[in-house]
Amino acid sequence: MILVTGGSGYIGSHTVLVLLQAGFEVVVLDNLSNSSTVSLERIAQITGKKAVFIKGDIRNRALLDKLFSDYLIESVINFAGLKAVGESTKKPLAYYQCNVHGACTLLEAMNDAGVKSFVFSSSATVYGEPETDCYHENLPTGHPTSPYGRSKLMIEEILKDLQTSDNEWKIAILRYFNPVGAHQSGKIGENPTGIPNNLLPYISQVAIGKLPYLNVFGDDYNTPDGTAMRDYIHVMDLAEAHLDAMNAIMKINTANESALKIWNLGTGQPYSVLEMVKAFEDACGHDIKYKIAPRRAGDIAKFYADASLAKAELGWTAKLGLSDMMEDTWRWQSNNPNGYNHLLK
Ligand code: NAD
Ligand code: UFG
Repeated sequence: MILVTGGSGYIGSHTVLVLLQAGFEVVVLDNLSNSSTVSLERIAQITGKKAVFIKGDIRNRALLDKLFSDYLIESVINFAGLKAVGESTKKPLAYYQCNVHGACTLLEAMNDAGVKSFVFSSSATVYGEPETDCYHENLPTGHPTSPYGRSKLMIEEILKDLQTSDNEWKIAILRYFNPVGAHQSGKIGENPTGIPNNLLPYISQVAIGKLPYLNVFGDDYNTPDGTAMRDYIHVMDLAEAHLDAMNAIMKINTANESALKIWNLGTGQPYSVLEMVKAFEDACGHDIKYKIAPRRAGDIAKFYADASLAKAELGWTAKLGLSDMMEDTWRWQSNNPNGYNHLLK
């Protein structure tokens, strides 16, 4: 059985779906601070299979001990955490408490239960601002500009120390670039609360008429159209990568090989903000209003993944392109204009 923390959230729910379809049994632990169990009901409709759901917090050691004694867990995929970059600058302690203390509590409970296979949601933000815009895993980590980013880097360092101290640990650190999109069914997707911070949820709420226009943050970057470029990756490709990474680390013979793996997850193809707007217009069939606004503090002009290591070591590459990302987001948004929010938890 696989424990997925944060499994009712955006990336977690898509990964739970992939795990169930691959034949795994799944336990989801989520405190529902940023999600709803409706995602898990929808997954059951799509797959015909149900994950066990436990409402709770990864910082609750007694709950974790009970969970590891009640279920035979082989591996843990940890999505649970707070993720809003801007909010983290205002509430740093909440971010370190939830993300770093949460990860340590979970790892301690795993250690005591003898469960030593762990897949972690990290982020391209750990690279800081290197000289190059194409990020390979062998670049040194840099200085993330937010407490959120630093919490991810701290957990990466903790995981390296843990694995060095005990070679039985098998750990995959997955550095996501910019996750977007939704399952092709249009039944599960991203469900931001309040006004979205990220580009694609914002564009799709403009498209559905909930927001009047998009602010394009800066058109004076050193890029072909002046707007910033990112490596957007479809959430279903990301979900598949978690399955591949988990399977790969579980097979490692730790006598011969290091079991601390780091993989970038991106497509390697960056798109600008205006290219994203145009692609979304093609998917939804009407114009998206936008205004050019000042640059957003902390943004960089362009970065994208060198994802060749995941291809070489996992046989994984992103299969879905920009039109899939846009069409699937639009299907989810137009079928669920209020996300899961109008439904009870
Ligand atoms: P999300 O908010 O949709 O999912 C996180 C889930 O964790 C939510 O369901 C929330 O209720 C739950 N949760 C939060 N704190 C918890 C706690 N202490 N105990 C139990 N459950 C808790 O976010 P997401 O976009 O699915 O992100 C998943 C992970 O991937 C996060 O760790 C995030 O930092 C990381 N990540 C996300 C992105 C992105 O752009 N979405 C990029 C890089 C990394
Ligand atoms: N953007 C706009 N208008 C908006 C929102 C975003 O123009 O309303 C632009 C941003 O300036 C940026 C691009 O769209 O150029 C993408 O912005 P997002 O906020 O969607 O994503 P970021 O690249 O800023 O952030 C992502 C993840 C973070 C992670 C960070 C660094 O969401 O978790 O990458 O890796 F920390």
